[in-house]
Amino acid sequence: MREMARLLIPHFLKRVRLPRGIRQLLDIGGAHCEYSRALVRRFPGLKATVLDLAGPIATAQRVLEREGNLEGIELRMGNAFEDDLGSDLDAVLLINMVHLFSFDQNRKLLLRIHESLTPHGIVVVMDQFLGVGKLQDTVAGLISLNYFTIGGRCYSVEEMKDLLKDAGFRQIDVKPFLLRAPTVLFQGWKYQSQCHRFVTSIVVEAYSRVGRVNEGGTEWREKLSTQTCYPGYS
Ligand SMILES: C[S@@+](CC[C@H](N)C(=O)[O-])C[C@H]1O[C@@H](n2cnc3c(N)ncnc32)[C@H](O)[C@@H]1O
Repeated sequence: MREMARLLIPHFLKRVRLPRGIRQLLDIGGAHCEYSRALVRRFPGLKATVLDLAGPIATAQRVLEREGNLEGIELRMGNAFEDDLGSDLDAVLLINMVHLFSFDQNRKLLLRIHESLTPHGIVVVMDQFLGVGKLQDTVAGLISLNYFTIGGRCYSVEEMKDLLKDAGFRQIDVKPFLLRAPTVLFQGWKYQSQCHRFVTSIVVEAYSRVGRVNEGGTEWREKLSTQTCYPGYS
């Protein structure tokens, strides 16, 4: 996972958008700490807590001490479903995690994350998803088969959006990596930003004027108020 993270981090950093002045980040299942480390370097003053199970935390402790690379990072042993996630967090990372859990477990985890965030906080989910494109779906199908053997699966982009919406996230960005891999980055904001609300209201108004909102009923209004799509992604 560490090598994979190193390959993906440049693409991740190009796409991820974090709250201005971010101070506190929780990296759930962060194991090797690569993502946290990249963000601590990118955002001076950021403190990242890596929460993982006992084995990975013990390994991470040894590796980070050996490499002398612990600045800005706190390692915490725990179970994301049972232990305290903290409060007033600016961002929570859930990278390569949702495929491990059932739909209900993911719903529960996202609700816990939603509660732990500040009002301007954000959850960042990255994983392999179905529904990105033909080639990526073939790869995701094979990966999903592999996850199936450990009790997980690849979710579809639509299922992930529903999970985030159900947990209360208001503004959802979907950013496929557009590589051969079916990797997608989701960002869910706890509350919709004023700017996003403003743009949404203008778009809804424009559609109303040409009669499209009434044609589509509430569906359009809901679509426009809860999600932003990455350009080029439909
Ligand atoms: C597939 S690895 C992902 C590692 C890293 N986030 C990455 O993307 O490279 C999943 C990690 O989640 C951790 N994990 C699994 N269940 C967990 C739980 N209930 N609470 C905390 N960590 C968990 C595992 O120990 C493992 O380190």
